[in-house]
Amino acid sequence: MSDNDKTLCVVGASGLVGSHIVKAALAAGFRVNGTLRNADDPQKAPYLMALPGAAERLTLYSADMATSADFDAPLAGCDAVFIACLVPIYAGRDGTPAREMDEDRGWAEIIRPIEDGCLNIMQAAARQDVKNVIVCSSTSSTNPREPVAVKNEIDHPSDLQHQLSQKKYTAAEKTVMEASARAFAKEHGQRLVIFLPTMMLGPTILPEHANRAFHKALADMLEGKKGWHDTVPAGSMSVSHLDDVAALFLAGYETPEASGRYFAVYDSWPWRDIYAEIGKHVPASALPAPLDGEPEMPTGFDFTRRDSLGVTLRDIPTTLKETLDWLKTKPFG
Ligand SMILES: NC(=O)c1ccc[n+]([C@@H]2O[C@H](COP(=O)([O-])OP(=O)(O)OC[C@H]3O[C@@H](n4cnc5c(N)ncnc54)[C@H](OP(=O)(O)O)[C@@H]3O)[C@@H](O)[C@H]2O)c1
Repeated sequence: MSDNDKTLCVVGASGLVGSHIVKAALAAGFRVNGTLRNADDPQKAPYLMALPGAAERLTLYSADMATSADFDAPLAGCDAVFIACLVPIYAGRDGTPAREMDEDRGWAEIIRPIEDGCLNIMQAAARQDVKNVIVCSSTSSTNPREPVAVKNEIDHPSDLQHQLSQKKYTAAEKTVMEASARAFAKEHGQRLVIFLPTMMLGPTILPEHANRAFHKALADMLEGKKGWHDTVPAGSMSVSHLDDVAALFLAGYETPEASGRYFAVYDSWPWRDIYAEIGKHVPASALPAPLDGEPEMPTGFDFTRRDSLGVTLRDIPTTLKETLDWLKTKPFG
């Protein structure tokens, strides 16, 4: 409990990533101000308030990133803000998929809300003199036009013009947001640390997170149902454990010289190998049909910057086993 004189703000405290940052920050002895859009949400708040240390040191606030002033109260007196609410937008206000939009709509309805939301929170942080800003982005901002065998966070940003020309507005959100956040932080003397995860697994804190995306696919597979794929894809997936991602976020905050982008993935594996691990835990009937041929080369990462933060990450078999063992217990009934 060495750090309980400091308060950290977690924006998106009810999110998959944010709830794990809250948990890790409480475990490290910090006071935490968490935000979600409705702090009284009965499907969310009780699970956060049940975390160890929450009753004494967690306060929840209602705040929407569209309104900068919402963040003045939760940021007052904080030493850092963790921004984990920049959820990808896949469709416009009328339901039009992002990939069917022209560029004007792509900017207005997909890219700008994320960029503006992040800047609204950073503006509140500047008003409240919060100097440490840690942002959750994603590896979608690390896909250069010409793929490289081994990518790093510095030399291999996504090519915005290419993303726009391909109507990849959802991926471009993060590319644009990161550039604007960098410029804002520089102008206002904030230290900006950006984490880049892909698929995150492990036990979840809120029930809704166990019931979506690959967590849901794994739960279905434990019951013998097909998950995401009918056939093993030729491609790969990058994976990390939620608690390790949260540990990276805290390390990014607690390492004063940390700045800029950091991968938050353990590694990328061919789906073939991921399903081979899953096959050790689920009925054979749930597995996708085998891949015909050899898998493509998985994404290669240079983890020098990630490892400079001193966090040891679980390997993929351990993360999958922990997730499946936990799902087997039907943790939320
Ligand atoms: N999940 C993944 O697999 C994954 C993979 C790669 C990167 N990421 C990145 O991780 C970050 C967090 O994603 P996540 O999966 O943790 O998201 P999530 O589970 O959907 O949670 C999003 C959080 O943001 C809050 N939020 C949503 N809209 C908001 C708004 N307009 N204003 C303020 N708060 C708002 C939500 O609270 P309420 O809804 O309760 O208001 C919730 O606390 C994102 O940047 C995402 O791109 C996620």
